[in-house]
Amino acid sequence: SAVHHPHAHDSALKHATGAARYIDDMAEPRGCLHTALVTSRWAHARLTGIDASRALELPGVHAVVTAADIPGENDVGAIVPGEPLLAEGVVEYVGHPVAAVAARDLETARRAAALVEVTAEPLTPVLDLREAVEKAHYVLPPSEFLRGKPGPALADAPHRIRGEIMVGGQDHFYLETQAALALPQEDQDMLVHSGTQHPTEVQHLVARLLGVDMNAVTVEVRRMGGAFGGKESQATIIAGIAAVLARVTGRPVKCRLDRDTDMMVTGKRHDFLLTWDVGVDDDGRVQAVEMTLAARCGWSVDLSPGVVSRALSHADNAYFYPHVKLTGLFCKTNTQSNTAFRGFGGPQGMMAAEAMMDQIARTLNLDPLEVRRRNFYGPEGRNLTPYHQPVEHFRLPEMLDEVLASSDYAARRKAVDAFNAKGGVLRKGLAVSPVKFGVSFNKPEMNQAGALLHVYTDGSVSLNHGGTEMGQGLFTKVAQVVAAVFGLDLDRIRPTATTTGKVPNTSPTAASSGTDLNGMAARIAAETIRDRMADVAAEHLGAEKSAVVFERNMVRAGNKSVPFGELAELCHVARVSLSSTGFYRTPKIHFDRTTNRGRPFFYFAHGLAVSEVAIDTLTGEWKPLRTDILHDVGASLNPAVDKGQIEGGFVQGLGWLTMEELVWDKDGVLKTHAPSTYKIPTARDVPRDLRVDLLADAPNEEATVFRSKAVGEPPFMLAISVWLALRDAVASCGPAGHVPKLDAPATPERILMAVQAAKDTA
Ligand code: MTE
Ligand code: MOS
Repeated sequence: SAVHHPHAHDSALKHATGAARYIDDMAEPRGCLHTALVTSRWAHARLTGIDASRALELPGVHAVVTAADIPGENDVGAIVPGEPLLAEGVVEYVGHPVAAVAARDLETARRAAALVEVTAEPLTPVLDLREAVEKAHYVLPPSEFLRGKPGPALADAPHRIRGEIMVGGQDHFYLETQAALALPQEDQDMLVHSGTQHPTEVQHLVARLLGVDMNAVTVEVRRMGGAFGGKESQATIIAGIAAVLARVTGRPVKCRLDRDTDMMVTGKRHDFLLTWDVGVDDDGRVQAVEMTLAARCGWSVDLSPGVVSRALSHADNAYFYPHVKLTGLFCKTNTQSNTAFRGFGGPQGMMAAEAMMDQIARTLNLDPLEVRRRNFYGPEGRNLTPYHQPVEHFRLPEMLDEVLASSDYAARRKAVDAFNAKGGVLRKGLAVSPVKFGVSFNKPEMNQAGALLHVYTDGSVSLNHGGTEMGQGLFTKVAQVVAAVFGLDLDRIRPTATTTGKVPNTSPTAASSGTDLNGMAARIAAETIRDRMADVAAEHLGAEKSAVVFERNMVRAGNKSVPFGELAELCHVARVSLSSTGFYRTPKIHFDRTTNRGRPFFYFAHGLAVSEVAIDTLTGEWKPLRTDILHDVGASLNPAVDKGQIEGGFVQGLGWLTMEELVWDKDGVLKTHAPSTYKIPTARDVPRDLRVDLLADAPNEEATVFRSKAVGEPPFMLAISVWLALRDAVASCGPAGHVPKLDAPATPERILMAVQAAKDTA
């Protein structure tokens, strides 16, 4: 069958063999120019001059553009206007693009960029997150989620516990760096091939940069070599530079960043300083909590409102807080502008909840697993989130029992404790962590999608929708949906490149909602066409329309049938349209951004992970030994793709929390801007024993596409179990009641320091 079946990703073989084409693989049109960026070497400075004369003398250089050369508005702000494409007046971070060169080849462009002389008067930067918090140096005013009366409830609580952790950022490290190819057309029109998760935004902002209407710009994307949120707003910068240079030179222009430039210029996951003040009873049940989530936004707003809002709406994770105040801070620093990254602030919010649960348990000498279970959301009276949405269809209690049994948790807990009791150099840690992730953009208006479907007279189907393919398998899943509606084999459906010319005014492919939204839009389009075809089939087969079924590439009624392709031809002869759009908007959701109340999420996805690790207390080195995952994807559209997303998300989360470390020097220069210094997990860092199960027989209670659930981001946060297991191992080095001091990423250095601190307490 087309859905609920483990079909291979439509490009799997092409990815593996190198046949999948990315922007840099496209045949370069004649006269195509190449780009290099001139970027700021100051973290904060007032520009006093840009002299491009020596660069322009270099043979093969066609143009050097600065802010002054932008034909329209110099603004690529995604949410809030006022974020220039090329710096104007001031530069705000090391790497800030100041000018861009177009030349006949990349080498010439780079040499020319090095010859552009930029002068500036340095200003004092703010580089440190804590400093920004202390100085209340913000890009936006604070945001608050409030329910009940946390102040008095805290004062009345039997125990009051305060804590804090720092959680680091993360570079997206997509395999394909940011790229765009801009092709000038007739009448000032511009066609842009862009590696973007958000073609409509590239279209909108390129039009603004060029000073033309949106209908003069077409943006197309066949696939990205990974995006992970990094190509949601920031792809616009690269596409914008290519488009401006193409306009100025009248030639095709390609802009593809090398890895170092990509890492120096583009924003990353927000690092957070998380602090809490929690009141609990003797059993570790939360009575009230106040938390502050301080995000490093970097130099500009970018997508930070969405990121901080999602952090706030996931700082409860799976736990009920009877009285709660959550404050989000939008800290401004003179560093890259941080942006979307898988989970969109959710992971950072959950880290606050999980670190707090761990601290409560250890402080009161309770079992962390029991403390978690006691604090789970429950029936009415214990089911309201800090944003006032009741938690419905909460699956974690039953899932917890299931994963504890399947992972043999109880026996392994005893074995780990016994191992550690021997007091050796090696220590083990074991931890369970849950994930409850809200699905939908928390801005209701973004939850809409369109599709465009054509059936050709040979019965083949061309599928287009607003979603973009970044490796996650969206094109495959949506094709499966269409194949299911028509009763066709999957290979009869051809997914086509996303383009603003076919489906307009789309939302980014983000918030894990790609399949939920575009799958539904495509389904609606397919059902529209199927309905028209059924009329023709009924007539042709001499049957009632209600008796017509589409299955196995045939259209049947009773004992008569016609091949799908033949029916398509009959429809054409009968002058019945074989083309349709489909439009979908998510029901039930609403959210008031002034009070931070409503129902931002259509439903929740759930997951649980049990992780075991071993640390070396003399070096701080560690190994993941085993992880068991039980994850809820509703009725999976494609169990193979979904398992791939779960494994990939988990490993990416493991990288974030244990090894990927961003280091800026005292002048604000990012020192970790290449794989030589920035370490992402490799095949050898994956737990040698990794078991992933999908929650069985669990269709979504809400009417999503074939009752599936979103899968792109939620599994990322399952990696918190690894970080908690590391804390568990460290805790065994200290006395009872010791709370490890371990920030993220838990690198060997930090583990070693935490072990030392634990030993010193003993
Ligand atoms: N998987 C791959 N292979 N590559 C990616 O770039 N991005 C993730 C996730 N899985 C990503 C991925 C992110 S950040 C999101 S929001 C979702 O995929 C987006 O796609 P979806 O909505 O279709 O799940
Ligand atoms: Mo994903 S961070 O929502 O692109």
